[in-house]
Amino acid sequence: MRPSSYVTTLAGIAVVSVVVPAALYRPVPAAATTHRAVTYAKDVAPILQQKCQECHQPGSIAPMSLLTYEDAVDVAPQIEQQVSARRMPPWHIDKTVGIQEFKNDRSLTDEQIQTIVDWVNDGTPLGNPADLPPPRKFPDPNRWQLADTFGPPDLIIRSTPYTLAAHTQDKWYRPIVETGLTEPRWVRAIEVKPVRPADRKIVHHALAYLLQDEPHVTGLASTAHDHQMNAGLFMEWAVGKTGQVFAPDAGKLMLPGSRIRWEIHYHAIGQEFANSQVELAVYFYPTGFVPKHRTVLTMFNVARNSELDIPPNEKTITQNFYVLQAPARLENFQPHMHMRGTAMSLEAIYPDGRKQVINAVRNFQWNWHVNYIYAAAAAPLLPKGTTLVFTAWHDNTAANKNNPDPNQWVGWGDRTVDEMAHNWIDVTYLEQAEFDSLLAARKKQGMNAGALER
Ligand code: HEC
Repeated sequence: MRPSSYVTTLAGIAVVSVVVPAALYRPVPAAATTHRAVTYAKDVAPILQQKCQECHQPGSIAPMSLLTYEDAVDVAPQIEQQVSARRMPPWHIDKTVGIQEFKNDRSLTDEQIQTIVDWVNDGTPLGNPADLPPPRKFPDPNRWQLADTFGPPDLIIRSTPYTLAAHTQDKWYRPIVETGLTEPRWVRAIEVKPVRPADRKIVHHALAYLLQDEPHVTGLASTAHDHQMNAGLFMEWAVGKTGQVFAPDAGKLMLPGSRIRWEIHYHAIGQEFANSQVELAVYFYPTGFVPKHRTVLTMFNVARNSELDIPPNEKTITQNFYVLQAPARLENFQPHMHMRGTAMSLEAIYPDGRKQVINAVRNFQWNWHVNYIYAAAAAPLLPKGTTLVFTAWHDNTAANKNNPDPNQWVGWGDRTVDEMAHNWIDVTYLEQAEFDSLLAARKKQGMNAGALER
């Protein structure tokens, strides 16, 4: 689908209070009066197998299982509601604007949603049991998922154990751990998870910073050096995210003697968790392999100077702008907000003034930090001098079901009841000549996505 543009106010005002249209997502229309007969066995079970069961099975991360017909009938109204609001499966990107080709797309098609809605409205018929697909076999949901692609991780680094009391304020735990590396290695993929699946309930997010002695960061495009003065952030993890796989021509460099500084945000839930640990798996490129580019994980803060002003019972829009100092490829889109966050968009203003929406999330769910990873052929290629416009929407009214207290003033802060607004993007800076040839190659293939040129 071709990305289309919509208008955003580009007032040079960081925070303005406005009324945001109520329709933040497009609900599926009520069931048509006539549609083909839909049964669980033939139509619904294959969808649940493909798009839901990985999480909705005993021992995985969802609250209930959806492995059997009885399971699905038990929660049929909730299923209808969640899928037609496009809250489940967790894939909250606006499908009507921007790039739609992703490596990790787990969304339902409009037809699949309609099938589920029709099935619930028809009274959840089983149909002919002979039509049931054979049960799907799942690997351990708590395994290293990228090991399916790359084999077992080359290096696993664990945070030191931390015990979280049953009732306490949010905690930030920041241990420093040696990587034990004795030679420089380039990283092709990283994965992070709590060691015990149950700890996903208390680990809101985890940051892993790479500490290493580097007088000057090597491996960046020549005009991009001012973007990054140290190795910086290695990996960010939040509920709903799995791993990060770098493009085949890009990676991160780890040096001998490097250490990981963890920053783990724990959130108590009324039950003690003893010796909680988070672990990081690193998958290396073969020894001696040097990828062309060094990827930089960047926090694009939408809140200028980390300031937000969200009055009680109001909705706000916040914007910030970044000008690319070098041609760049964006590898992913990952909005980060808390309980009042409802939407975030990224637009590009090209050096010649044209504007284009790259992506938008319109029904942001604070407990789902989905990382939307672009397919290789669709990752936006943006010329030097492009302005990235980030817009964040917060809803501090009672209409926001996630809002714990609409009568509180809310500002920027670490706790989940405070707010944030930023986007974690892996940026690959390119030399001009390479950018030109990548763009030319895409045009030759008649591709619209990515370069967003027309
Ligand atoms: C990536 C994992 C994952 C996938 C895939 C997923 N779910 Fe969920 N689901 C969860 C988790 C975790 C929760 C509880 C937290 C929440 O509601 O966001 C949940 C909650 C729900 C709920 C709400 C339960 C309640 O308390 O009312 C429903 C209904 C649901 N899922 C249905 C589905 C259906 C149907 C699919 C597939 C079309 C699906 N989910 C796919 C993880 C997942």
